Amino acid sequence: MSTIEVRVEKRVVEADDIVSLELRAVSDATLPPFLAGAHIDVHLPNGLVRQYSLCNASADSGRYVIAVLREPNSRGGSAAAHEAVAVGDILQISSPKNHFPLSAATRSVLIAGGIGVTPLISMAWALHASGEDFELHYCARSKSRTAFREQLLASPFSRRVEFYFDDQGDSIRINELLGEPEPETHIYVCGPAGFIEFVRRSVKQLGWADSHVHFEFFAAPQCAMEGDSLPFEIEIVSTGARLAVPEGRSAADVLYENGFEIPLSCEQGVCGTCVMRVMNGIPDHRDMFLSDEEKSRNDKFMPCCSRALSRVLVLDL
Ligand code: FES
Repeated sequence: MSTIEVRVEKRVVEADDIVSLELRAVSDATLPPFLAGAHIDVHLPNGLVRQYSLCNASADSGRYVIAVLREPNSRGGSAAAHEAVAVGDILQISSPKNHFPLSAATRSVLIAGGIGVTPLISMAWALHASGEDFELHYCARSKSRTAFREQLLASPFSRRVEFYFDDQGDSIRINELLGEPEPETHIYVCGPAGFIEFVRRSVKQLGWADSHVHFEFFAAPQCAMEGDSLPFEIEIVSTGARLAVPEGRSAADVLYENGFEIPLSCEQGVCGTCVMRVMNGIPDHRDMFLSDEEKSRNDKFMPCCSRALSRVLVLDL
């Protein structure tokens, strides 16, 4: 997969354990445009590839800004971004990808948990620029852990931003905030898995349709990829060949070994890069990318993490 070479132009400590990196194209090259909600893959100095949302305004061409939270249980990605990346370094990144776009709506409600604010800031700039009605609700553990607080307070849409700090006993009241479903309102949620689940459950109980609730996970919750890892078979529809996926191995690994170049990025069912079409059989969905509605159609499958409930899964390959 081709990458873009960028220089780290700025590195700012935005809050406790959160740094932002401003990336610019090397020499006179230009960066591809992006729309609010997009993310890039960043190839870190230790060889890991991680996804980070772009948090600047999409109209702000010529630079990409990302922010990285140092995760206490980091598998090496956030620690490398904090410790091994300095101003002036050259990094390889992917073009922006967008699995979290804005939908047409008369009102957009953006709900952020901690570092999940990043794509929502970009959305806030886009909605502000187009004069649309929106509000940004930003939940964080404390003021000192609230990245971009000053920037948001100084923004032209500051009156649309509400902060909730755990250590001050503020908590977001989803029921009061959203109430009955409104057909022209869309909700966007980003943050840690537990936060997203809490908001999703609350809006479901209020009767909001899946199609009006958009979310993006940063990492799969611990439980998502757990469960029995029973063997199954993949059938390649174009040739009829069958490949055995044994216990403890992913379908993506097996496909790769058999010569199929499967595009992979997060490898934990979060980013959607590896999505494949299912022609027959029932997937055992373990990803966080497809909506419940999409999962119930059983026509898509994430080979990096999902398995099969049927003995054979026929893939469009
Ligand atoms: Fe990200 Fe499979 S590689 S969902």
